[in-house]
Amino acid sequence: MNKNLPKLSKGATAVEILTAGIKAADDRVSLACSFSLEDVAIIDIAHTSGLTLEIFALDTGRLNEETYEVADALVERYRLKIDWYFPRHEAVEQLERTEGLFSFRESLDKRHTCCGIRKVEPLSRALKGLSGWVTGMRRQQSITRGELKAIEVDGLNGGILKINPLLDWSEEQLVSYTEEHHLPKNRLYSQGYRSIGCAPCTRAVQPGEDARAGRWWWENPEHKECGLHRR
Ligand code: ADX
Ligand code: SF4
Repeated sequence: MNKNLPKLSKGATAVEILTAGIKAADDRVSLACSFSLEDVAIIDIAHTSGLTLEIFALDTGRLNEETYEVADALVERYRLKIDWYFPRHEAVEQLERTEGLFSFRESLDKRHTCCGIRKVEPLSRALKGLSGWVTGMRRQQSITRGELKAIEVDGLNGGILKINPLLDWSEEQLVSYTEEHHLPKNRLYSQGYRSIGCAPCTRAVQPGEDARAGRWWWENPEHKECGLHRR
């Protein structure tokens, strides 16, 4: 269990947070990458700052084609290796045979079951052997993320460090960074999507709606976490 939280000055930059987090975790750190604007910006920041960052992605089996296109563009641009994790096939087979293909729309419990099989269990395998993981979470994203810290101890994942270098970035800042550096960008953003997860649980949002309104849109805002980031 790693409880040595590094001291960071107030307003530490993304590079400072990343650098301190990687050092505190003895370099055994990996970025959880969903190929969002946030995750791509982190890859670019690490690359341009000379920081070594492993990358893993959870392929739930229900991602959009556009998301895989970003993965491919990143491999091409940065020559990186992505460690893909799939759900256990027996669990998915059982789920789809007994509950059908859209059971997650029937109740919160069923939605959590699907996220548990397709995201949370593979995440636990992805984090094995690591002392820290990096995420693209930002405080502004949702009411469930307001208390986020730059570097925190992840009690739900064995007490390893959870590093959130973009926690204070606004959506505008992120979009400008993406444009300024010509970063690969999921084509769904230009169709009104502002937060992208699995295809059947994500849709575009209307002007004026919350950025995560298109995620699990049939649920209340306080439920919009899939278990990757329970607090
Ligand atoms: S979620 O919990 O609602 O799905 P969100 O899409 O906001 O999470 O993403 C927040 C962060 O979680 C991402 O920046 C990324 O670090 C991690 N993450 C989300 N989905 C995945 C995924 N499929 N594979 C790897 N990391 C992911
Ligand atoms: Fe299943 Fe939807 Fe969760 Fe993806 S986001 S794992 S499809 S419930």
